[in-house]
Amino acid sequence: MSLAKGEYNKTIVIVIASVAAIGGLLFGFDTGIISGAIPFLQMNFNLSNSMVENITTAALVGAVVGALFTGWITDALGRKKIILFTAVIFVAGALWSGAAATPKELIYARFLVGIAIGISSFAVPVYISEISPASIRGRLVSLFQLLITVGILAAYLTDVSFAKNDVVTSWRPMLYSGVVPGLLLLVGILFLPETPRWLIKKGKKSQALQILSRLEPPDNVERAVAEIEQELARDKEKAQLSEIFKPWLRMPLFIAIAIMFFQQFVGINTVIYYSPKIFMIAGFDSAKAAIWGSVSVGVINVLFTIVAIYLIDKWGRRKLYFVGLAGIVIALVSLGLSFFFNQHLGHTGKWLTIVFTLVYISFFAVSLGPLGWVIISEIFPLKVRGLGTSIGSLSNWFFNGLVTFTFFKIVKLLTIPGTEIITRERVYNTVTHAFVYQTINNGNPAGAFWLYAMIGILGLIWGYFYLPETKGVTLEKIEEHWRKGGKPRDLKP
Ligand code: BGC
Repeated sequence: MSLAKGEYNKTIVIVIASVAAIGGLLFGFDTGIISGAIPFLQMNFNLSNSMVENITTAALVGAVVGALFTGWITDALGRKKIILFTAVIFVAGALWSGAAATPKELIYARFLVGIAIGISSFAVPVYISEISPASIRGRLVSLFQLLITVGILAAYLTDVSFAKNDVVTSWRPMLYSGVVPGLLLLVGILFLPETPRWLIKKGKKSQALQILSRLEPPDNVERAVAEIEQELARDKEKAQLSEIFKPWLRMPLFIAIAIMFFQQFVGINTVIYYSPKIFMIAGFDSAKAAIWGSVSVGVINVLFTIVAIYLIDKWGRRKLYFVGLAGIVIALVSLGLSFFFNQHLGHTGKWLTIVFTLVYISFFAVSLGPLGWVIISEIFPLKVRGLGTSIGSLSNWFFNGLVTFTFFKIVKLLTIPGTEIITRERVYNTVTHAFVYQTINNGNPAGAFWLYAMIGILGLIWGYFYLPETKGVTLEKIEEHWRKGGKPRDLKP
């Protein structure tokens, strides 16, 4: 039995999108990989926590820079070329990071990787949404979000497989391993077409027709071209940067920035990047054991993202937000308590830390994780959607960088005297080539987690007034609502 034509085309599209979504995987992989490398970097170079913050934040600063320029470059060069270019940077960045001779050099190398992350976090979803037929577009775009979490998990598993407690340079193979998904993307994208939308925009209609005839059922090709042309014509009168600051668009802009603020300031990436370190402070004394703890974080993150994709159109955005964020706040308070009483709890303390971290990540993955991205893709009118979404993702990277850069500083600042957790850590002495033990005062992370919990409570209040329920509401209706000056809370299907 031969496949129906439409079905056949869908298969091609899914294959195309899956390859492009390796971009999403790389985004997760290259941000997550640093977590398991950190304990070894500290052992190898005897790094202070603030140097760890600098190395981790370097990639995020790179991502902000990448995201700032992507809109412009993807338009000028085309989606395919830019993804190809990103793949090359991913590979080069991974090689350079793994080979870095000094922590300072590692900062530069991670900054380079960050540029690729920033570009791909924007260009890949654009590629996917432009190349897929409307009927499966939403699902394919959420595939990207899921792949970020799969990428983080793959990074943790890679970390754990290279982590050898006695080999201080274990961080090198971890960072080198980014070459593999980079090469996959490089080879994959070579076989993929440019998007018809970009080709038509650049006056290459016959090429666009050729590609569309492989993507769409035959009777749909002409209509698809007409639709793209219409959209492009509308785009022409599009949006200068100033457009988005018009009074009626201030509300969606505020919502996009605020939801990313709360997504990041509940401290998600202190867990994603620093969890092995956090688990070591809690009492796990080998880097490898601590990285295993992170693997469990990675697994739960993937599983609950799948739950979210299922629930997001059933429960709606608001319910998911309140349930998720309330859970996050409770988990953060508990996590703080497990650290506050760390010295009294003995061995139980470190296990409680893992349990509360897992509760925390499951509530995040089911709510704020995907919601941030879904909301920013829904609340802007077509005319400013591209611009609005990129301001949203830029805010995401910026707030991420801020939280990551300040975590250990905040831990130190908010440590209640008398609760400091003192650990004995092994560091490598490069002169004697032997391990020596150092006593380290880690402060106590309880205060930092309680601070994030308070921000979470503010997020609940903010959400009550400002989070719109976009479930089942057409994008046109959302636009009309803003034009009329409607309150976010009053948006109804
Ligand atoms: C966030 C990232 C985070 C990831 C964790 C995403 O939604 O934007 O900052 O690392 O979720 O799964």
